[in-house]
Amino acid sequence: MDLRAVRGMNDILPEQVQRWHQLEADFRLHAELYGYAEVRTPLLEHTALFSRQMGETTDVVEKEMYSFERHGEQLTVRPEGTASAARAYVEHAIHAKEPITRWYYLGPMFRGERPAKGRYRQFYQAGCEVLGDAGPVCDAEMIDLVSSFLRRIGVPGVAIHVNSLGSAGTRARFRDELLKYFTPIRDRLSEDSQRRFERNPLRILDSKDPRDQEAAQGAPSILEMLDAEDAAHWKGFQHALDVLGLPYVVDPGLVRGLDYYTRTLFEVKAIGSDLGAQSTLLGGGRYDNMVESLGGPKVPAIGFAMGLERLLTVTPEPPARRGPGCYLAPIGAAAGDKALVLSRELRSFGVRVELDGRGARLKPMLRRADSLGSRFCIILGDAEIERGVITVKDLIGHAQEEIPLEGAARILADRVSEPAPESNHPRGNR
Ligand code: HAM
Repeated sequence: MDLRAVRGMNDILPEQVQRWHQLEADFRLHAELYGYAEVRTPLLEHTALFSRQMGETTDVVEKEMYSFERHGEQLTVRPEGTASAARAYVEHAIHAKEPITRWYYLGPMFRGERPAKGRYRQFYQAGCEVLGDAGPVCDAEMIDLVSSFLRRIGVPGVAIHVNSLGSAGTRARFRDELLKYFTPIRDRLSEDSQRRFERNPLRILDSKDPRDQEAAQGAPSILEMLDAEDAAHWKGFQHALDVLGLPYVVDPGLVRGLDYYTRTLFEVKAIGSDLGAQSTLLGGGRYDNMVESLGGPKVPAIGFAMGLERLLTVTPEPPARRGPGCYLAPIGAAAGDKALVLSRELRSFGVRVELDGRGARLKPMLRRADSLGSRFCIILGDAEIERGVITVKDLIGHAQEEIPLEGAARILADRVSEPAPESNHPRGNR
């Protein structure tokens, strides 16, 4: 039996975790700047939540969900966060507590897709949802949030694609037009598209299959079919984007792969990345009917989610993690005891410490201190301990001196917080 990680699911080892922490912290700060608060929903939901909201004929629901039965209930490991957020919103009657709700979330999602660079079976999303605001300014502000966030984390170049799907009536008319357009060329479509043809011809437009893409070349544009209210919303959205000076591409072919969307749709793609087909960093849109369809009142909503793995691929690598402030290298039994106590004292001053308890010789301990990038190596030998001193070796400035053991923690804590020579450790190693 092969006991490796499940295909498409990745370990994130400590050397990479620092970048994840940074990205997550940046996202939290940024979302809070725009008034969002974090919501945490369970990893498991009833399968029907996703199949009804995301759509029975979408790829995710048809082929990719991790679903199983337990205790007589049909459950699914969440493939996304929107349906869960809306479910929690209805379940806790949030609409009765506040007119506008802004939630964000961060966490793993699960889809059994074919793994590739930037496409995994467990992947992480950060997302935002606004419930209770139908206006187009809200949509533009969300694009502003997204674009300023991408700038903040150093994503070099992006293209913002926008479209409108209209509301239910517009979509029904668009569906009829699509059926009319595709019917004569139906046999040129992929097997999936032929099968879904009557139920959901919109799916043909976001198919990745080259046969579908070719057939869709001359398909009608939904933007020409918007009714007066949809058109006003669409115009208002673009106006607000212009007011904010946000560049965007109107992309009538953008339909997105989930059924719950109404009106505004958007996706942000990385330019010049090596992500290929996975260059879509994030996607989102309005879903004005979801809350009502979950048994809540008629509350409009809009949101987006971005893939954290993809963001990490397109952002610059930060400098390597700084090592501990002090690496303690005791030589001998008495020195070992003193080192144990000194480490605790240093930590109480907020200094990051590693204690070498291997009983090793000095050379391998110094090598380890160096390879960790420690600021100082503190050498404690039995003979020095008898004299009441310890040796402080500056691994960056290369100076070495003895200081009294008594009060050493405070002296070292001060030194660690001073800038290192050469200033390649600008904030010290504390
Ligand atoms: P989505 O387009 O399915 O939308 O996913 C959003 C983002 O998650 C994608 O643009 C991509 O960056 C990332 N992503 C999706 N699948 C994978 C995968 N298999 N591996 C790696 N990254 C992936 C949603 O999930 C909607 N819930 C977004 C939304 C929120 N709409 C309204 N509110």
